[in-house]
Amino acid sequence: MSSALPSTLQQLDANHEILKILIENSFDSILITDATLEGKIIYANDAFTKLTGYEIDEVIGKTPRILQGKATEKKVIDRLTGSLKEGGSFEGKTINYRKDGSPFIMYWRVLPIKKGQTVFAWIAIQNGL
Ligand SMILES: Cc1cc2nc3c(=O)[nH]c(=O)nc-3n(C[C@H](O)[C@H](O)[C@H](O)COP(=O)(O)O)c2cc1C
Repeated sequence: MSSALPSTLQQLDANHEILKILIENSFDSILITDATLEGKIIYANDAFTKLTGYEIDEVIGKTPRILQGKATEKKVIDRLTGSLKEGGSFEGKTINYRKDGSPFIMYWRVLPIKKGQTVFAWIAIQNGL
């Protein structure tokens, strides 16, 4: 029996490897949450730690609400919640806070990972100033 993977499997492996390299090395912070409206974090890349000061281990199971504070605009968060309820995507900016309490402007997108109409998870791409 040949030890070579069939070409379709090789293709899948290569695609997976490419995505892994992209997500792990992105300059943008990438968060993946479960499909709930608050979004419990199930994955964060190193750029998230660089942006926010939170280690990956300490945010798994929490929600991105940890980034919010006094100056976070409710209007923007309400718009995000509306998009999540509809299974749609969101783009916006607001004030968020690092672990040390310092504020920054968060620019971010949230997109559903869907199979048919069912949302399995949310993915956020975040950039801070
Ligand atoms: C994938 C994803 C990413 C999110 N990223 C942020 C973020 O970067 N900053 C922020 O203020 N809120 C973010 N949120 C919003 C909060 O997690 C939460 O959905 C929002 O505060 C509404 O829930 P609440 O009404 O219980 O606070 C994100 C939500 C999801 C699902």
